[in-house]
Amino acid sequence: MYYIGIDLGTSAVKLLLVDETGNILNSISKEYPLYFPKPGWSQQDPEDWKKAVKEGLKELLKGYDPKKVRAIGAGGQMHGLVILDEQDEVIRPAILWNDGRTDKEMVYLNEVIGVEKLSQYTANMAFAGFTAPKILWVKNNEPENFKKIARIMLPKDYINYRLTGVFAGDYSDASGTLLLDVKNKKWSDEMLAICGINRSQLPDLYESYEVIGTVKKEIAEELGLSQDVKVVAGAGDNAAAAIGTATVHDNSCNISLGTSGTLFISCDEFKDNENKAIHNFAHANGKYHLMACILSAASCNKWFAEEILKDGDYEAIQSKIDDEMLGRNNVYFLPYLMGERSPINDTDARSLFIGMSMDTSKEDMYLAVLEGVAYAIRDCFEELKAAGINITTSNICGGGSRSKLWCRIIANVLNIELLIPASEEGPGYGGAMLGMCADGLYESVEACADSLFKVKGHIEADEKIAKRYEERYQKYAKIYPSVKQLYKELKNDD
Ligand code: XUL
Repeated sequence: MYYIGIDLGTSAVKLLLVDETGNILNSISKEYPLYFPKPGWSQQDPEDWKKAVKEGLKELLKGYDPKKVRAIGAGGQMHGLVILDEQDEVIRPAILWNDGRTDKEMVYLNEVIGVEKLSQYTANMAFAGFTAPKILWVKNNEPENFKKIARIMLPKDYINYRLTGVFAGDYSDASGTLLLDVKNKKWSDEMLAICGINRSQLPDLYESYEVIGTVKKEIAEELGLSQDVKVVAGAGDNAAAAIGTATVHDNSCNISLGTSGTLFISCDEFKDNENKAIHNFAHANGKYHLMACILSAASCNKWFAEEILKDGDYEAIQSKIDDEMLGRNNVYFLPYLMGERSPINDTDARSLFIGMSMDTSKEDMYLAVLEGVAYAIRDCFEELKAAGINITTSNICGGGSRSKLWCRIIANVLNIELLIPASEEGPGYGGAMLGMCADGLYESVEACADSLFKVKGHIEADEKIAKRYEERYQKYAKIYPSVKQLYKELKNDD
């Protein structure tokens, strides 16, 4: 029996073919373009996702008996606004999770409606990347598109819709819309009214492991699948990654080092968390989670290596950085290439390097990029600590976690132990696990995750390095407050 996990990411879709024992038989990655039409804007064409998923599925199944596929589960980039008209055509490019155009709408929500009311309705405050401010942006800036909206959906729900014809969503991903009453798991009437939309424009919601339908006949025929392949509701990519790394027990932590960087804490019960810099969302195991998100993590590494150094040989650059250099770098980097979400919620913030001198090397600057991301994750870690969450061990997944050096830096900057999974493909693997649960292989998502998740190694903090990083972090923490005001002046409105 086979299960397919889909990770609809920002740079690519990754598909996994997994057997009933959890072995990954095949994996395929298909890239698609990401558009930055203005500074701080970020868009993708949902049709590119659809095409990549379809082609990816064909390649994934090459050499395997498609009739053995039992279920498909997707984890997807969160918060993205996909809008369809009455004819089911995509109205405009999807506005993504790391898009900062909704500054005015975010301020309106947080300051005019007020954080207190938003928290009461949704358990969260507004961040520029969330879906509700995007809906308001379309309403304010593209009224002709707003009028055409028949269906509003999140990226992975768009894929599920095209695969099954069923308009559905799940609670974990819906949490990031700022339209969901997270505690009670239902769309918030108040938020719908604030955004000027109605219930029929939004999908019915399911738990992530529930079946929403089966693959459409014509797609099943094209791929050689049987007619009864189940498609589960799936999850936001962070919740799916947490399933994939067995971050399913109270207070367990997962760090995802993908295009974004997230700290994810699984909670058995809904927590009435006061600190609104931390997202309060539903988890894909039917429970809840807290999360903080930085907008640029592995993307900083990719940008600096490929765009600036014009060198995609990450291993070669990283091999020049040894332990002696860790915690001794005089160069600092703010990783705000797309503004920042947690904890500063500042769409105007931008990256900067500071501290270079004539003896600064390429490696110092590269290391500063890796360290800057680790420090930004530490900022989130401090917020969680202040909210009473004590983390001593965390799983880590995502493309960036393939770098031992980066994991070592993060373990030392946070002064925690990191567990390195056998597969860093968190969301795709989690998606496949949700499919297995829907197919009755396990009695709970927890049982499935505990049984299939394998750790390949541990990285412990080193006392001396962690001490050096503690001092450096305290200096790093002073940089943003010193330039915060300047960002407003440097803002390019063109
Ligand atoms: C989470 C978030 C990102 C995206 C990345 O809130 O915005 O992690 O889900 O795909």
